[in-house]
Amino acid sequence: MTSLALEICGITKAFGNNVAVDGVGFSLQQGEIHALLGENGAGKSTLMNLIYGLYQPDSGEIRIDGKPVVMDSPNTAIARGIGMVHQHFMLVPSLSVAENIALSSGRGKFRFRRKDAEQHVFELSARYGLSIPPRAKVWQLSVGLQQRVEILKALSAAARILILDEPTAALSSPEIAELFDILRRLRDDGHSIIFISHKLKEVMALSDRITVLRRGRNVVTTRVDETSPADLARQMVGHELPLIERPPQVAGDVRLEICSLTVVGHHDQVAVDGCSFDARAGEIVGIAGVDGNGQIELVEAIVGLRKAERGSIRFNKAEITNLPPSKSRQLGYGYIPEDRQTAGLILNFTIAENLILNVHRLKRYQKGFQLDRKRIDADADALIRDYDVRTTNRGALAKSLSGGNQQKVVIARELSQAPELLLAVNPTRGLDIGATDYVHQRLLEQRRHGHAVLLISTELDEVLGLSDRIFVMYQGKLTEATPFREDLSKIGLLMAGGESVNR
Ligand SMILES: Nc1ncnc2c1ncn2[C@@H]1O[C@H](COP(=O)(O)OP(=O)(O)O)[C@@H](O)[C@H]1O
Ligand SMILES: [Mg+2]
Repeated sequence: MTSLALEICGITKAFGNNVAVDGVGFSLQQGEIHALLGENGAGKSTLMNLIYGLYQPDSGEIRIDGKPVVMDSPNTAIARGIGMVHQHFMLVPSLSVAENIALSSGRGKFRFRRKDAEQHVFELSARYGLSIPPRAKVWQLSVGLQQRVEILKALSAAARILILDEPTAALSSPEIAELFDILRRLRDDGHSIIFISHKLKEVMALSDRITVLRRGRNVVTTRVDETSPADLARQMVGHELPLIERPPQVAGDVRLEICSLTVVGHHDQVAVDGCSFDARAGEIVGIAGVDGNGQIELVEAIVGLRKAERGSIRFNKAEITNLPPSKSRQLGYGYIPEDRQTAGLILNFTIAENLILNVHRLKRYQKGFQLDRKRIDADADALIRDYDVRTTNRGALAKSLSGGNQQKVVIARELSQAPELLLAVNPTRGLDIGATDYVHQRLLEQRRHGHAVLLISTELDEVLGLSDRIFVMYQGKLTEATPFREDLSKIGLLMAGGESVNR
C-alpha cells in the first residue's frame, strides 16, 4: 500500500522564450527514492525550484496529499514538509552546526539555548547516522559533512520530502557511499526523496524509480528494475549513442617526443620521474592513472608552465623544453586544460572573445592596429553552430554557459586551428553523456585527420576506448599498458602501483 507524497501535474515554466520545463508530470510516493535524471539544461533544477517555491509556474499544479498547493515561497514549501539541499550550500561558515540549525529553524528566535540546540542536533544526527559533531564550526567540516548539515537542517524543519540537487557532484566516492546509506535510512523511515543526477551508475544504484527529463519534458518514469543503463542513456539524449569506433590506422611522423623527463612538483618532490614516450601523427596516446600521480605536472612541463629539471621535450622535432608559455603556445598545438573555468576560459569575457583567446595575434583578425570585429563575430557564429554550443548569442558571457557548453567553447577554439598535436587533460570531466560523446567524437576526428592526440584522463573507460597506445602513470613513472587493454585487473593493479614498474 503506497500513498502519494507529491504530485506534479503538467507544470510549465518559461524564461523569456526558453521553455525550461514543459508540461512535466510525475508523482512521488511516500517512502521512495525517486531519481530525476537528465542532461545539463534538461530542466531539473528549474523543476525543483518550482516545487520549492523559488519560481512560480506559468501553468500546472502541485499537489500534496492530493490537495493543490500554491508554492508561493520556500517558507510555504517548508511548512508543507519539503526540504531542499542545494548544489551550493547555504550555511554560515563561522557558526557551529547547532547554531546553523537553530538559525534556520527559527528555534533561536527568542533565546538560543545552546545545550538544547546541541542535544537536538546530536539526536537527529544519531538517528540517521549522519555523524555530525554539533559544536564544530561549519568551516571546519568537509564538503561531505557540510552537505549533511544541510540535510539535518531540512529534517530539523520536519521535512518529509527531501530534494537533493546533484548532491554527489562535489563528493569523493567513499562520501557518496555514505550519503547513499543515509538516504536509504531516511527512505526506510518513511521519507520521500527526489535525487537529481546525470550519472547513470548512481541513479541505478540508489533509486526505486527514475524519471527522465529531456529538454524540459519528461520522457518516461520507470522502476529501476525495469530499465537498464543503455535504455536510460537513450532516453536522456534522445537517440542511440554511437559506439566508439577506432578503425585501424597507421601512425605517421613523431609529433611529440618526451625523453627522460623529470619535473619537480609542489613541495619539491619529484612529480614526473624520468618519463619517455612519443605521440605520432594519426594516433591517440592515452595516459591513465589516479589523480595526483604527476599527470598535471607532465602537461604543465610540456606547455611551459613548469620547469623541466632534466630531459627534453620536442614538438615536430624542435626542442621546446622550458620555452616560456607565451612562446610555447605560438607553436600551434591545441590544449584542452584540466580546469576549463580558470585555465580554459575567461568567464567574464563573451563567447566570441573566448573563441579567439589564443589566436588573437593571428593576421586574420587584424585590421590596421585594431581587431577585425566583423570577422571575429562571423567566425564565432560559425564555431557556435559547428560545435553546437547551446547559447542565445555570441555576445553572452562565458560564465552564463553550462559546464558542457563551456567545454565546447574551449574545444571549438583549440580544434578550429586544426592543430597537429592536441593535449587533452580530463576533457570530459563533469560532462553529461551527450557532451562526453561529443568530445570523444572530436578526438577521434583529430586522429582521422592525421593529427596526434595526447589524452590524459582519470576515466579508464575513456582511455581504453579511445587510445591506440596506453600508458599508466603511477607516482611519476609511466608503464606501457597497451598489451593489457583487455585485462582490467592488470591495468587496475598498475594504477594502484601494485606492479613493478619498468621504464
Ligand atoms: N533563472 C534563469 N533564467 C533564465 N534561464 C534559466 C534560468 N534558470 C534556468 N534557465 C534555463 O532553463 C533551462 C533548464 O535549466 P536547469 O533547470 O538549470 O537545467 P538542469 O538543472 O537540468 O541542468 C536551461 O536552458 C537554462 O539555461
Ligand atoms: Mg541543475
